[in-house]
Parts: sequence; structure tokens; C-alpha cells
Amino acid sequence: MLPQKERQDIEFIAPMTKEFDAFADDEENYKEVIRSLDNDELYIEEYDVINVKMPQLVSGNVKAEVGEDFYKNVADKINHKFSQAAENQKEMKKDKDLVEDDSKEQHLPEVVIKEIKKSDQSLESIRVLLGEDTRTKKKIYWEYGHPKLENRHILISGKSGVGKTYFMQCLLLELANNNISSLIFDYTDGFKKSKLEPEFKDSLGDRINQFQVQKEGFPVNPFKKNMKEIDEDDFMEESDIDVAERIRSVFSAVYPGMGDQQANAIYRATFNGLKKYGSKMSLQYLKTELENDNSGNAKTVLSKIEPLIDRNPFDIEKEYDWEEHRTKDGIVFVVQLSGFVREVQLIVTEFILWDLWNFNISHGDKSKPFPVILDEAQNLDHSEKSPSAKILTEGRKFGWSGWYATQFMQGQMAKDEIRRLQNAGQKVYFSPPESEINDMASFLSTDTSERKEWANKLSRIGKGQCIVSGPMLKENGELQYGRPAIIDVTSLKERI
Ligand SMILES: Nc1ncnc2c1ncn2[C@@H]1O[C@H](COP(=O)(O)OP(=O)(O)OP(=O)(O)O)[C@@H](O)[C@H]1O
Ligand SMILES: [Mg+2]
Repeated sequence: MLPQKERQDIEFIAPMTKEFDAFADDEENYKEVIRSLDNDELYIEEYDVINVKMPQLVSGNVKAEVGEDFYKNVADKINHKFSQAAENQKEMKKDKDLVEDDSKEQHLPEVVIKEIKKSDQSLESIRVLLGEDTRTKKKIYWEYGHPKLENRHILISGKSGVGKTYFMQCLLLELANNNISSLIFDYTDGFKKSKLEPEFKDSLGDRINQFQVQKEGFPVNPFKKNMKEIDEDDFMEESDIDVAERIRSVFSAVYPGMGDQQANAIYRATFNGLKKYGSKMSLQYLKTELENDNSGNAKTVLSKIEPLIDRNPFDIEKEYDWEEHRTKDGIVFVVQLSGFVREVQLIVTEFILWDLWNFNISHGDKSKPFPVILDEAQNLDHSEKSPSAKILTEGRKFGWSGWYATQFMQGQMAKDEIRRLQNAGQKVYFSPPESEINDMASFLSTDTSERKEWANKLSRIGKGQCIVSGPMLKENGELQYGRPAIIDVTSLKERI
């Protein structure tokens, strides 16, 4: 994918006499360049062969690694032309008995592929290819870098096996190739090395980093007091009450059977623990405090959360360096939670999300997207006080880009949670479960007859197809909300 900005900037200059300055449609122009080279229509003067030090394929400040394959391909062809021209020249000289010593031969100029610097690749230029409109065959993009985009969240829904995880890998690949790193919480096993799509794995290679929480323990302390923003640019440290409330809310969201009294036992134990142990407070001490509490609720709740405590999934002696993470280019970082029971996976995810949320409040930057991928998000908490709700409603200003894939919307999630997820600027509907067709259709149109049409379409779309609803780029560069489009997801193979 050649980003928008580079398309406008790229032009071909010397040594070719023909200029290609408008890359409005990169594919077409690419084909045209190759065709011209093949047909010898791009004339390279012998003079240039000797004198041009480095033929430039790009101009302006874009020294492309943009679409590296594209560039390399053209570069190879050009170099080939150079050597051909040089050969011809040698022949000519030979004819004239001018070649006496081969060692004096001029070196051929090399086309050098330069590394793209971070600064060369502006966020504004980034468009993420979603797929091709089934009807018009037009390419449809998530206008990821557009400054007018409401937020960079995406909601992907659809029943099991329709291609949601595959689709996310497509988008992750596109972002990685645009030097944007992403963070995946894998509580589904879907992003284990053995489960990843081969093309995705091969193409990204060691840019996929798996952090095995089971092996190492994630360096986060759930009891850490963070700075909270009380007004714009005005921060204060969280109190014991803030931390105890957070711990209570995470536990009660992950263990749905936990009643108020049990949740309060957790609150009390945390609060007392923080008073006693200060910054040394840990899950182990939470257990001690619950054991010291003789109430029945404390006992019941301890029996529920003991498996988590015994697993000890956090390494509280260390702190994860989110800043370092942020500075990495094009890395796909997987927090691998495989091997834990579901509750432990979710608790760890929620606590890391909190830690990251708190980090981003003071370090996040809206011009530096921080994509966080939550597959099978129906399992997570999106209620008002959850980190996910914060990401969806306030995350934009700190650079959050929340990716949510869900199998179900109804049933497992409350109405307010669904509404919050619908805040995502880009929505993608794969074939839903039968029972959700009408609800999904109502997200696509409020008009009764149109809704029926969408319901019909939703029931007919196949695997690898989806309906996308989000702003599209108009010719004048503005974003416009139009009618949703049915697309064929562009395959990984075609993106590599
Ligand atoms: N566009 C596509 N092109 C080729 N293969 C695809 C495509 N989409 C999905 N597949 C294949 O279909 C299978 C199911 O896809 P995927 O795992 O992405 O479904 P899912 O919607 O995430 O399901 P679940 O909700 O159960 O996790 C995978 O083996 C994947 O390789
Ligand atoms: Mg999946």
C-alpha cells in the first residue's frame, strides 16, 4: 500500500527523460513504468550512465522504502537498463578501439533503497486497506491517519469462523508496514504463533513479539498508585480508596457471580493492605487480608480468586516500559495469556489495560496512535468504569486506537456497553448469528425498508466478506459518511 502522501510526492526524475509525477493511482503508474522500461520507452542516455551517481526514483523528502517491493522492482529494472546501456557503450568503445584497460571502467550507479525515517512517514498519509467493494470493485480504506477521523477505534462483529481474526491480521500487517506498532491481548489463543496465518507470520517474522505471561509474569503491579488527572494538566496521586475501588471493580466484572458483599470484602482487604504494606501491596497480601477477615463473604470470595493469586501472573518488582514500547516501529506485541483459565486471562488483561491507561494519560499523544487489540471482546468489561469504556470515550486524545472484535453483541453485553462499542469510528459487520441479524441491520440504517435490505444482505454475505461502515475519503480530501459498503476482504497474500 503506497500511502496517500507519498503518492502525491513521488516523481521520477533523472536519469529518465520521462517523468511520472502524479501517483494518484500507484498501481496504474507502477504498471506504466514497468511497461515503459520493458518496451525501451524510457530512454537512458549514455552520458547519464557514467555521470549519474545515484539515480533517484523519488523526490522531495520521501526517500522511499514506501512499498519497498514496488521500489525494488522498479530499481532492479532500472539497474538492469543501466548495465545494458553500459554494455552497449563498452561495445561502442571497443568498436572504436577505445577500451584499453577494463580496470578503468566506470562503476555503474546503484539504485539505493533508503530506509524511511519515522518523520518521513506522516500519520496523515496512512490509509489501511480493508478490501474491495463487491459491486464497484473500488478499494475501500480505513482512513486511519485522517486528521478529521472521529476516533481510531474499530468494531468488528460476526459469528464464529467468518474471518474476524484473519481480517485483524490483515489490518495489523498494514499498520506494521506503516511503522505503527500494536499491542494484542491474547486471551483467546488466537494469536499464538501456531495459530497465526502463515502469510502474516512469514511477512512480519521477528517483528511479532510474544510475551508469555505464564512463563515470566507481566511486569505490572495492580496495586500501584497512579497519577490521576483531576483537571486539564493537573494531576494528583491516587488514594488508597481509588486503588481499592479499581481492584473491586475489576474483580466483580470478571467474576459475574460475585455479589456486592463479596466485592466489598475485596475492597476492604485491599484498603487495609495498602495501609499496612504501602507500595509492597500484592495479590499475596490481598489473600492474607482476606484470610484475616472472618466474614463468610471474605471466605467465599477468597475461594473464587485463589486460583488467580496462586498463579501469580504479575511480576510486581518490575514495571513494564511502555515508553520504550511506544518508540518501537512496526512491532506486533502479543501479551500471550495462553495457559491460564479464562478469569485469570481477563483479570490480567484488565489490570494491564489500567496500567496502560494510566501511562497514556500522561504520556499518550493523539498524533501517535497506540493500537490495542481485543479479540473476542464480548468477554471483557465495557461498563462505565472499565478501562475499555475509558478507551472508547476518552481514549482518542491520548492516541488510543481500540480494536474490538466480538462474536455476539446481545446477550453477553449490556445495552450501554453495546452503545459504547458503537462509538468506534469504523465498524465492520461480518455475517452475524441468526438471532442478531435484525439488530445488526438496525445499526446500518434507521429506515425500515433499508433495514430489511441490510438484514437480507447480512444473512447472505459469505466468509471473508463484510459490511463496512465508516467515513470515506472524497476526491477533495474530505471525509464523508456514506452508505455502508459490502466488501471482499483483501487477502493477506495480496497485501504482501
Ligand atoms: N478473507 C479470507 N481469506 C482466506 N481465508 C480466510 C479469510 N477469512 C477467514 N479465513 C480463514 O477462515 C478461518 C476462520 O477465520 P477466523 O479464525 O478469522 O474466524 P473468526 O471470525 O475469528 O472466528 P472466531 O470468532 O471463532 O474466532 C481461518 O482458518 C482463516 O484462515
Ligand atoms: Mg477469531
